[in-house]
Amino acid sequence: MSLWQKAIEDAVRKTKANIERYGDLFPHVSKNGSYLLNDNTDWTDGFWSGILWLCYEYTQDETFKKAAVRTVESFRHRLNQHRHLDHHDIGFLYSLSSKAQWIIEKDEAAKQLTLQAADVLMKRWRPKGQYIQAWGKEGDEHNGGRIIIDCMMNLPLLYWAYEHTGNESYRDAAVIHADLSRRFLVRGDDSSYHTFYFNQENGEALRGGTHQGYMDGSTWTRGQAWGIYGFALSYRYTRNPLYLETSRRMARYFLERLPEDDVVYWDFNAPVKAETKRDSSASAITAAGVLELLSHLEPDDADRAFLEDGLHRTMTSLVENYSTIGQSDAEGLLEHGSYSVRGNNAPDDYMIWGDYYYLEALLRLERGIPGYWYERK
Ligand code: GLY
Repeated sequence: MSLWQKAIEDAVRKTKANIERYGDLFPHVSKNGSYLLNDNTDWTDGFWSGILWLCYEYTQDETFKKAAVRTVESFRHRLNQHRHLDHHDIGFLYSLSSKAQWIIEKDEAAKQLTLQAADVLMKRWRPKGQYIQAWGKEGDEHNGGRIIIDCMMNLPLLYWAYEHTGNESYRDAAVIHADLSRRFLVRGDDSSYHTFYFNQENGEALRGGTHQGYMDGSTWTRGQAWGIYGFALSYRYTRNPLYLETSRRMARYFLERLPEDDVVYWDFNAPVKAETKRDSSASAITAAGVLELLSHLEPDDADRAFLEDGLHRTMTSLVENYSTIGQSDAEGLLEHGSYSVRGNNAPDDYMIWGDYYYLEALLRLERGIPGYWYERK
């Protein structure tokens, strides 16, 4: 059995036990070794759906499918109630729940729900500034003009909605936002700001900043990871080579800075001391993103060997040093993720998105199953 297969089998076993544990609730981040659960109210809840769909695709075991479909019904309820959707993370939520069901099952109701979700995301588009507002209400003094790099992973929902409807407003919003992110969130040395502020009235660029990073000008490792994967996906949908180049450069920046055990600290600018926290979820997202990036490179691409080596080192260390293999009662798959070290919020715990991207990367390596960010041809 390969190392990847061993890790997948362990993840599948743990997920099955977690279905019993969680019932209709959704895991978010952990405290004292147990996931904190919510009632489908957070930005993270799609990752549990995604894990269930991945396990179903790998095993064909109906237990996973039944549980995954239950989460989709919960997401339908959330949308119908218009609750807890007043942010840009609609892409994370509905790509991995209803869009996954559409991709796997060609379920028409799931497709319609996903299109409705794209409309909800479009409500975050700000025509005056020409960007997707990440957080807060329209006109909000602090967040009204703010974009964040994480949003690159929400754009696939809009590109996908364009493909299914022909309505260009979805694609135009995604492309304009991706261009703006490339120009202002990614810096000349291929590092990134977590967030950037614009004048809400006229779109004038104001300044970069951070929310979860070490300081305003630092490179939060998870933000860099969102960029690597997000720009590669924008390339897949648009074939604009600038997006591929951006993903590639951001990936080089990330992989050139791997620490001695190949799993990153929480911010590339945080001073490294014995107690400095890691973010295993940033490494898992990057691994999944580099797999997407590699899928677009020619066999003889000059960066291929470097990227493959970084991917292999990252995944090997995640499995050998960060996974919970060998802890049969553990709920999470990956230890030492950090939600917000800066805010002292789950600075060294399981992160449900870390678990999702870890499993996605494993399944892509082992079985060629690529997750649910785009339609399979
Ligand atoms: N998208 C929120 C985070 O990465 O913490």
